[in-house]
Amino acid sequence: MTDLSYLDSIVDDAGSITEVVLAAMSRTDDARLKQIIDALVRHAHAFFREVQLTDREFEQGIEFVKAIGQATVDNHNEVVLCADVLGFSTLVTLLNTVDKTNRTPGALLGPFYRGNSPDYGNGESIVAEGSPGAPLFVRGHVVDSARRPIANARVDVWQASPVGLYENQDPDQPDMNLRGSFRTDAHGYFRFRSVRPAGYPVPTHGPVGALLAKQHRHPYRPAHIHFVVVAEGHETLVSQVFADDSEYLGSDVVFGVNRSLVGKFAMHDDGRAPDADVTGPYYTLEYDFVLAEGTSTCPTPPIK
Ligand code: BEZ
Ligand code: FE
Repeated sequence: MTDLSYLDSIVDDAGSITEVVLAAMSRTDDARLKQIIDALVRHAHAFFREVQLTDREFEQGIEFVKAIGQATVDNHNEVVLCADVLGFSTLVTLLNTVDKTNRTPGALLGPFYRGNSPDYGNGESIVAEGSPGAPLFVRGHVVDSARRPIANARVDVWQASPVGLYENQDPDQPDMNLRGSFRTDAHGYFRFRSVRPAGYPVPTHGPVGALLAKQHRHPYRPAHIHFVVVAEGHETLVSQVFADDSEYLGSDVVFGVNRSLVGKFAMHDDGRAPDADVTGPYYTLEYDFVLAEGTSTCPTPPIK
């Protein structure tokens, strides 16, 4: 028989392949890339062994990955959605933000963040003229872990409408409605006017929706507002604040709710709204954003 012992990538049985693959990848120069791909291979191989994946199931898995790629277009990101409903996004967020500092926990970015939201001055409205909804006045305070105010932080906000749709999903809303970019003042405060967001179902038209249906899971998120807070010398905070009275707080389909991210959406009917044109009931939300010292980065928008 021919001596093949010098060929170190020959795999004769399922038991030896993991070590053979790890050896083949062992010359990767980038140490972090090596650590990540090695662990991915070890865990994926263990997973295939655990479930004894069949050829047909492997094909179906590949079809699923292909389908989430194909369902991803400029204004919809099915890949992010898939990571979200499987808890991947929240796990990564929490691994990176819940630590010994008392910083505000992060929450997943989600598939609806757009870059270049319009700049507004403090107190301005992110609601396009004529858009319906219960007035909401938001005041945020951005501070460091010693509770010192952070001036001139950039705060991007975006939210769904009172019918639970982001502007890019809704032909009835103008471009960039309910999105805005603010700067904190000298005392670390930012303020804006909006309308109360509603909870909403995540998009279910694609393969992720089909998966949720098979799992008998509802597709809803509780009402929330997204925030990205960027300040020099501090780690960027990507988070969400949830309405305390919202349905689905305890069963968010993407596992984004953290108890410290629930904010009081207080209802008032005292005729003392910050803007004179609001004479009926209105809501207020006040929330403190605590940033950890570090390097600021900007998240990549998943859609255009
Ligand atoms: C969002 O909050 O915008 C979101 C997060 C995950 C999936 C769908 C939407
Ligand atoms: Fe959202």
